[in-house]
Amino acid sequence: MNDRLSVSHIVSLYDLSTEDFNKIFKKAAALKKDYESGKKTKILENKTLAMIFEKPSTRTRVSFEAAMTQLGGHAQYIDATTTQSGRGETIADTARVLSKYVDGIMARVNDHSTILDFVINSEVPVINGLSDFNHPVQALSDMFTIWEKKKKFKGLKLAWVGDATNVCHSLMYACGKLDVDMWIAVPNLYRPNKGVIIEADKLSLAATEITTDPKEAASDADVVYTDTWASMGSTLSPAKKKALEPYQVNKELVKHAKKDYLFMHCLPAHRGEEVTTDVIDGPNSIIFDQAENRLHVQKAILSLML
Ligand code: CP
Ligand code: NVA
Repeated sequence: MNDRLSVSHIVSLYDLSTEDFNKIFKKAAALKKDYESGKKTKILENKTLAMIFEKPSTRTRVSFEAAMTQLGGHAQYIDATTTQSGRGETIADTARVLSKYVDGIMARVNDHSTILDFVINSEVPVINGLSDFNHPVQALSDMFTIWEKKKKFKGLKLAWVGDATNVCHSLMYACGKLDVDMWIAVPNLYRPNKGVIIEADKLSLAATEITTDPKEAASDADVVYTDTWASMGSTLSPAKKKALEPYQVNKELVKHAKKDYLFMHCLPAHRGEEVTTDVIDGPNSIIFDQAENRLHVQKAILSLML
């Protein structure tokens, strides 16, 4: 097995092969072990990552920057509003110019088409750090975290409960590639993107089931996952809040899951809204393991791509 991924950019997990997932997880596990034992792995010496942000971030920004530092390279934080693209320079020109200076571009964008513009015009790898459509590096870290805890994928049931966000889309692809059954409990008005439903369905023998009943999704689940009801760039209308209230992940709902279920959330969380404090801060919650693994998985991605 060579060390290269089958893709030049990380745009959507739909594009990755199952072998790519395994390469990333294997590398992440090795880099995590090195990090924990204090071994320095300066494999990206003299490499620079440009990190462009059109939206706020805590985890993505800090974990990518720390990843580059720990691998001996450098990351530049770029607030998109302070660049010439904020004054109308095209993404095509921006991507061409940045390609002359840096070894990789990570971008968090409002509109997914901006990621595609970067990919078409960049001469260096582009990593999607979240768009309105998906969040591939989050789902990769989540699947790695599930593997660490459960030591398997096949036969697991992951219940997504709440708004079908960008993170939900990436998990649908990831579960499809890794043979995890994904059940999505969502009000009819807030279902996942139709194209993603069709593509995820084609990916594997595992099921992608969509229901309006949160109990059905949570029943015997190995993982219960939720995300904010108000993703960046959108506001939570009173109507949406009302529709989502029955989808709150709380003590009553998780009673339907397996005893050793894992509670997951990409963060940031809104305690008392999509999840109650007793669940997110309870013994089954692995939210900080997920957040920690962003560092190790992204180090793996950077070392395989840059
Ligand atoms: N989960 C995640 O991407 O967090 P940030 O928005 O803080 O980067
Ligand atoms: N769905 C959330 C994820 C944040 C990491 C958002 O887009 O705001």
